[in-house]
Amino acid sequence: MNNEAVLILGLETSCDETAAAVVRDGSLILSSLVSSQVELHSRYGGVVPEIASRHHLSMINPLIDEALAEAGIDFADLQAIAVAHGPGLVGALLVGVATAKALAYARRLPLIAVNHLEAHLYANHLGGEDISYPAVNLIVSGGHSELLLIEKPGSATSLGRTRDDAAGEAFDKVARVLQLGYPGGPLIDRLAREGNPEAIAFPRAWLGDKGRFDFSFSGLKTAVINHLHRARQVREEVNLPDLAASFQEALVEVLVEKTILAARESGAKTVLLSGGVAANSHLRRKMAGRLSEALPAVSLRYPPAELCTDNAAMIAAAAYPRYRKSEFAGLDLNAYPGLGLR
Ligand code: KG4
Ligand code: ZN
Repeated sequence: MNNEAVLILGLETSCDETAAAVVRDGSLILSSLVSSQVELHSRYGGVVPEIASRHHLSMINPLIDEALAEAGIDFADLQAIAVAHGPGLVGALLVGVATAKALAYARRLPLIAVNHLEAHLYANHLGGEDISYPAVNLIVSGGHSELLLIEKPGSATSLGRTRDDAAGEAFDKVARVLQLGYPGGPLIDRLAREGNPEAIAFPRAWLGDKGRFDFSFSGLKTAVINHLHRARQVREEVNLPDLAASFQEALVEVLVEKTILAARESGAKTVLLSGGVAANSHLRRKMAGRLSEALPAVSLRYPPAELCTDNAAMIAAAAYPRYRKSEFAGLDLNAYPGLGLR
């Protein structure tokens, strides 16, 4: 192994995916393993924290062994261990944090604490291509929806965020009402492909000039529920693909237009998408189309779908600049369920 290379083992257990990955120099994935708990939680229609913690506990060690084996390395080849210490479910986060601390102590490796949200941004660094700054980053996941201005790598200013539900939460809640299953985002994404996005005119929450970079999705969710109730009352058949496509169109249009406005106002050179909802095919297509019309000089970047949703490669990528600056955590590191970006 080249002595110059920095190999970081990343661990991720903040919600319902147990993940371990080895990344070289913050950009090259040597292995990235994700054990999804979707099957376990789907019958409850959402994540059950106690079940999540137990699953992390049984999966984390075998996943670490597999991640090292797949990367073709041993603990002795690693330069650091990185772990997501928040935000997320406290019991779930603690599994990753305790495991990382134990390994760092036993293997005498530096420990790096990573903010899960910041790691979603770093998913765009995996792949190695340079990003032109300033950049506007739309981060849309199951727990967060935020527009960030990134003047240079490592700096992030929040331009706006959701006032109620996160975008992924809206997808999941609407899917539950439609009895599609959990998680709802990918199911609605698929169903919507057969529907007409203009069939139903659902409301768009633009929130005026002051809230131009903020989001609100709870009104849209209520409008979908009301539409279903009314149809049932008058015994009208509901076209599910049309409903899914119209809901998705209303949500995506707001994400796209606000991101473009932010890019225009800030003179951004790049628009970055990250978080689970960045895997949405309609969001990707519509953002690309509108951006090339409105701001053709601005380039669009998003990670491959498997790096949009929770994974550990993004944790190791986010840890790399910290490693460079020797920003290490102590063995008293704790989990912070409400950790914010700044
Ligand atoms: O980033 P993530 O894996 O976990 C959090 O940090 O929250 O995001 C999960 C969210 C879920 O709400 C899921 O429904 C949504 O991302 N999601 C999608 C798609 N794939 C995942 N939403 C819309 N379309 C998709 N294709
Ligand atoms: Zn996430």
